[in-house]
Amino acid sequence: MKFSNTVAKCVACGFLASRVAAQTFQRLGTCPQLGCIFPPDQADFLPGQWFDIRLEVHAPQNGSERVPYANPDGNFTFTIAKEGGAAAQPATQYFKLQEPKLETWNFTWYEDLFASEADTPSFVKVASKAYRKVALYEPGQYIATLTYQDGETTQANWTVRDIPTKRRAKNTVMFIGDGMTTNMITAARLIAHQQINGKYQSLMAMDQFPVLGHQMTHSIDSFITDSANSATALYTGHKSTVNALGVYADSSKSPADDPKVATIAELFHEIHGGGVGIVSTAFIADATPAALTAHTRNRGQYGEVVDSFLRGIQNYTWVNWTGPDVLFGGGAEQFYPNKGSFQGKDYYAEFANAGYNVILNNTALQTASNDSKTLGIFSVSNMAKWLDREVYTENLDIAETAPDGGNGSATDQPGLKEMTLKALEILHTRNPEKGFFLMSEAASVDKMMHVLDYDRALTELLELDDTIKATKAYLESIGELENTQIVVTADHGHGFDVMGSVDTQYLAAQETDREKRNAVGVYEQSGLSQYVVANTSAPVGSDQNLVYTEGVNFPANVDPRYTLFSGVAAFPDHRENYTVHKRGPRIPALNVTGFDEDDYYVNYIDAVTGFIVNGTLPVSADQGVHSLTDVPVFTQGPCQADFGGVFNSIDVFYKMAGCLGLSRTSPVAR
Ligand SMILES: *[C@@H]1O[C@H](CO)[C@@H](O)[C@H](O)[C@H]1NC(C)=O
Ligand SMILES: *[C@@H]1O[C@H](CO)[C@@H](O)[C@H](O)[C@H]1NC(C)=O
Ligand SMILES: *[C@@H]1O[C@H](CO)[C@@H](O)[C@H](O)[C@H]1NC(C)=O
Ligand SMILES: *[C@@H]1O[C@H](CO)[C@@H](O)[C@H](O)[C@H]1NC(C)=O
Ligand SMILES: *[C@@H]1O[C@H](CO)[C@@H](O)[C@H](O)[C@H]1NC(C)=O
Ligand SMILES: *[C@@H]1O[C@H](CO)[C@@H](O)[C@H](O)[C@H]1NC(C)=O
Ligand SMILES: *[C@@H]1O[C@H](CO)[C@@H](O)[C@H](O)[C@H]1NC(C)=O
Ligand SMILES: *[C@@H]1O[C@H](CO)[C@@H](O)[C@H](O)[C@H]1NC(C)=O
Ligand SMILES: *[C@@H]1O[C@H](CO)[C@@H](O)[C@H](O)[C@H]1NC(C)=O
Ligand SMILES: *[C@@H]1O[C@H](CO)[C@@H](O)[C@H](O)[C@H]1NC(C)=O
Ligand SMILES: *[C@@H]1O[C@H](CO)[C@@H](O)[C@H](O)[C@H]1NC(C)=O
Ligand SMILES: *[C@@H]1O[C@H](CO)[C@@H](O)[C@H](O)[C@H]1NC(C)=O
Ligand SMILES: [Zn+2]
Repeated sequence: MKFSNTVAKCVACGFLASRVAAQTFQRLGTCPQLGCIFPPDQADFLPGQWFDIRLEVHAPQNGSERVPYANPDGNFTFTIAKEGGAAAQPATQYFKLQEPKLETWNFTWYEDLFASEADTPSFVKVASKAYRKVALYEPGQYIATLTYQDGETTQANWTVRDIPTKRRAKNTVMFIGDGMTTNMITAARLIAHQQINGKYQSLMAMDQFPVLGHQMTHSIDSFITDSANSATALYTGHKSTVNALGVYADSSKSPADDPKVATIAELFHEIHGGGVGIVSTAFIADATPAALTAHTRNRGQYGEVVDSFLRGIQNYTWVNWTGPDVLFGGGAEQFYPNKGSFQGKDYYAEFANAGYNVILNNTALQTASNDSKTLGIFSVSNMAKWLDREVYTENLDIAETAPDGGNGSATDQPGLKEMTLKALEILHTRNPEKGFFLMSEAASVDKMMHVLDYDRALTELLELDDTIKATKAYLESIGELENTQIVVTADHGHGFDVMGSVDTQYLAAQETDREKRNAVGVYEQSGLSQYVVANTSAPVGSDQNLVYTEGVNFPANVDPRYTLFSGVAAFPDHRENYTVHKRGPRIPALNVTGFDEDDYYVNYIDAVTGFIVNGTLPVSADQGVHSLTDVPVFTQGPCQADFGGVFNSIDVFYKMAGCLGLSRTSPVAR
């Protein structure tokens, strides 16, 4: 079939196009027709990037999309044509593969909330084929055509980007402030940097980057993203679906068989043999670190994620992966032998047997060898927050947080800076010529925004800023700053901003909720930031005013009388007194005995001196949610000029991968 005929034919096709407007629920995102191609229409590729293809043909048996045939036709033709090139060829011929075997399954979905309430799902039968580990090498436009069910067609227009193979950066350090927005950076600056008459006397490290861009975080099938979905876009150049890591979401039951796309870590490892470092303050199986090596529809497969860090993907034909040089974070519950670790195995032992130096506290981190591959797991679950590590240290004393899985508490935890600097020392020592790719995530900016704990969120952001500053200084000291592209970005936002200040003493002294609201000062009554003043009688900007300096700015006083009047745009029921939570991260809403367990109300012991703010989210939400905003991308180093302006989340991948020279324009062995 000629390319031009295929296109002409599609104009007339589509009598089976969706009759359901995909919104709250979708039969399958990215597949409005009954024939599905993954990667779908509009997909972009790096030349030579490995990916899987999944074809599905759907036969809805009931509901508004019902079709007259009982079973989907397993007789597919699937062709690939390059625009301006040869005629369309069967994919088996194009990729020199055997015809894949036919798979069949069925699934159900709800067309809307009424159907969900009535529990009347629509039932769909599926026939499918998958082509594993293929690549397109020549830049240009490609048309993939699936013909099924007596000539019905679905087409995907794919773009292999014209990205030269020349390597311009030796190393990449990618910082991700999870959930971090420009509004949060602005607020963090206000609580940590002195100003005089409206002029800041010092700036954030981020403020000092030469190039700033904005990335659009829209997902492939929803406009709000989660961290799995967005990390997939940032690391692979392919948009994806909420909860999916490194795959396009298919409709099959197994989360492991969805079509994969190669990540920047996998490509860097395969093409340059360089070192990969993965650092996060989250439990390390969490989405942002996981997306570098995991390929699963379900980000909750934590045990499998940890196995993928070590061994890559074993059960499907996929890239060779021999583990990162550095893996640092929390999440011990996926490592010591228990029901949370993969197959109940001891992953400290699995890593040690693969040659890793395994360390479990900051003391051991500081003295660890720079020569060995290193696994550092410092707590159960997410790591302690800067505010608890540095100010309210008694909060570290929580039983059963020790990384060995025992009853102890994880009192000796590093911060993001300590982990990142050690990671750099190891990566540089082990890869003096080949270079490295390091991802370092400030995970709890997002986690603390979710629970409306703004003091912790903003100090996590300041810790990230401190880490960036220290990273630049370290790279300069070893002569690698010029060779390293540094990219600082986020994966999505939260609807956070600062609208004024609050007199917390006045607020606590008032009787009624309406009176308490008069403690809020807006416009000229917002006054000046009290967080930067430790000792009100000392001169502004003097050393006495800066307690937690270490050469960078943190709040001098985290608990001033006049605090930020800040908040997010969407929240559960909660109470606000606008004071720092001294006893540990906030719990804004609780389920209450006597009501459904997913029905959340204001936490009756949180901020008791404050006023109640009725929620705007569904009552099943106990936390805030992500928002639509574009997020910033700060860049310096080789290729910095590529990062200005407004672009797509996936473009971050193409810009970084292009700078590292990860394109392959001639075929390599599969
Ligand atoms: C399979 O489909 C092709 C074209 O779509 C058609 O020519 C062929 O007859 C079909 N084979 C069977 C066994 O239905
Ligand atoms: C749907 O698939 C399941 C297996 O996943 C199978 O047991 C069942 O028979 C199928 N139902 C129909 C109606 O095909
Ligand atoms: C569709 O069929 C399934 C399985 O027979 C059934 O459970 C479901 O209620 C039906 N849905 C509708 C919308 O009729
Ligand atoms: C495929 O998409 C590209 C970019 O959007 C466009 O230039 C081209 O015309 C499209 N080709 C077809 C056949 O739709
Ligand atoms: C790989 O397949 C085996 C055998 O089916 C299974 O036990 C294991 O869980 C799979 N591994 C992963 C990482 O999913
Ligand atoms: C993967 O690694 C193994 C062991 O190092 C090697 O034998 C094999 O050739 C590699 N495969 C590819 C495709 O590079
Ligand atoms: C830190 O880990 C080392 C082993 O690597 C251990 O000997 C030491 O006791 C630990 N320190 C603390 C404070 O847990
Ligand atoms: C690791 O490298 C750093 C900086 O290059 C150096 O200061 C430190 O002593 C090294 N550590 C070890 C254990 O060799
Ligand atoms: C841990 O706590 C459990 C129950 O609280 C106790 O039975 C066990 O002996 C403790 N283990 C250690 C090592 O202290
Ligand atoms: C809240 O829900 C959990 C289940 O998620 C349940 O175990 C717990 O008892 C509920 N709490 C109250 C106070 O109802
Ligand atoms: C506000 O609430 C927090 C959290 O419950 C509490 O720690 C703090 O002491 C309260 N502040 C005032 C001024 O009452
Ligand atoms: C919160 O909503 C409830 C109804 O759900 C209402 O009775 C109450 O007055 C509201 N409180 C405030 C402070 O708006
Ligand atoms: Zn989040």
